[in-house]
Amino acid sequence: MAPDVIIFDTTLRDGEQAPGNAMSPEAKLRLARQLDALGVDVIEAGFPAASPGDLLAVQQVGEAVRRPVIAALARCHDRDIDLAAEALQSAQRKRIHIVIATSDLHLEAKLRIDRATCLERVRSAVRRARVHTADVEFSAEDATRSDLDFLCQVVALAVAEGATTINLPDTVGYTTPAEYAALFRTVRERVPESETVVLSAHCHDDLGLAVANSLAAIEAGAGQVECTINGIGERAGNAALEEIVMAGRTRPQVLAFRCGVNAREIVRTSRLLSHETGVFPQPNKAIVGRNAFAHEAGIHQHGMLQNVLTYEIISPETVGAGGSSIVLGKHSGRHALERRYRELGYEPDAGTLEQLYQAFTALADRKRQILDEDLLTLLHEGFHRAPEVYTLTYLRVSCGTETASAEVRMAGPGFRERTATASGNGPIAAAFAAVGEAAGRTIEVIDLSVQSVTPGRDSLGRVLLQVRIDGKSLSGHGASTDIVEAGARALVHALNKIDHADGLETAALSSSYYWGV
Ligand code: KIV
Ligand code: ZN
Repeated sequence: MAPDVIIFDTTLRDGEQAPGNAMSPEAKLRLARQLDALGVDVIEAGFPAASPGDLLAVQQVGEAVRRPVIAALARCHDRDIDLAAEALQSAQRKRIHIVIATSDLHLEAKLRIDRATCLERVRSAVRRARVHTADVEFSAEDATRSDLDFLCQVVALAVAEGATTINLPDTVGYTTPAEYAALFRTVRERVPESETVVLSAHCHDDLGLAVANSLAAIEAGAGQVECTINGIGERAGNAALEEIVMAGRTRPQVLAFRCGVNAREIVRTSRLLSHETGVFPQPNKAIVGRNAFAHEAGIHQHGMLQNVLTYEIISPETVGAGGSSIVLGKHSGRHALERRYRELGYEPDAGTLEQLYQAFTALADRKRQILDEDLLTLLHEGFHRAPEVYTLTYLRVSCGTETASAEVRMAGPGFRERTATASGNGPIAAAFAAVGEAAGRTIEVIDLSVQSVTPGRDSLGRVLLQVRIDGKSLSGHGASTDIVEAGARALVHALNKIDHADGLETAALSSSYYWGV
């Protein structure tokens, strides 16, 4: 049977060390709860000696999240270890994670100690940590650039002192899969005592090999992999949890290992992380990127419409993604265009479709992304001159260190004045939620950009928006000296178009459609 691998998530510790990814204790707690739902085995919640905030975060996660092991990082310093122990006091299952560098480069240039002193620090640190908990992990930082004899000596000592997990980090993303696998095999051979402990892989992505190296370590006997959601982490990041897990699930014949991750929670966890940090993975990021299940090329779209297996090796639902999407752009074909028109409620005949297709390709050459609204404009000249159904008559937003809240009033011809209130994690989110509530529509923001129209302190700001309203993608724009108001006006602009689009769709369903009418 395939061996079980422990998934050690370090999003809240190593992941947080990436620029722009700092998280408050409250954000860490929300993420830890989601990591629990994801099914990871160990959550490294922070480095308590680094800051009072990190100490608090580890404490709060330990108090609230009871199933997984909660780990706290500590250098080989008494104070670090005692603070880690203090932070973990209320945790149900706790681990102290001790680290010291073992490469000569780090010993000489960074720590300014010799090998003998390093060994002494390992001995006393592991011993001290063991007083607080039976679950102690020891990491030999920069293991992949360490002298192998010395590394084995350190590992043997850490095991003898009671470490239960030995981590061999590729701290600077330097190794390669074959080399990293050989390191694990060699340590196992040369340190027979290591049979009693779990060997762990911890890889960074400086050469883009973090996931490949982690998988190679598993094949060579690593019983734990350390990874982060979205692959966030120092410099180029850490090995991405979602890629390791899905590689195993997708190719069990060649990557035989099991883990307890509930893959359906992957996308939700990735989105929550982005939401908390404001940092989104690149669109082409495997598994969780915006384009991971999007198909634009005509040949691919045609294949997908026949059988999704032609171009998808993972079904999006298995990772909790909404589904595959057929994106319309300059590479799309007639099949995809016809399908989207049908989804929008139109049934163009062959001649009409051909004319639409020609107009569509000409437009796609000029425009990066084609929205439903563009397709409607090709059908209905003057679609952009949607009659005004809603106007924004009042907006009040309050925001600060607390959750933002907004109140809006909307009126308009054929629409009785409505007031709505809503909250959000920022003033724009709150204002959008209130506008959606007043209009009774489900709104998803695809893209938002802000431009300064006039220079100076009282400059006019313009918000350009792409949204999906009840499944249709549309754009809107609005301007004001207040950027939140400009955003709300842009959304109201898009809402006016959706009403118009719905009206046209109803008309199309109840009459036959003629090109150009
Ligand atoms: O990359 C590294 O070496 C680390 C250690 C603290 C495990 O993050
Ligand atoms: Zn690291």
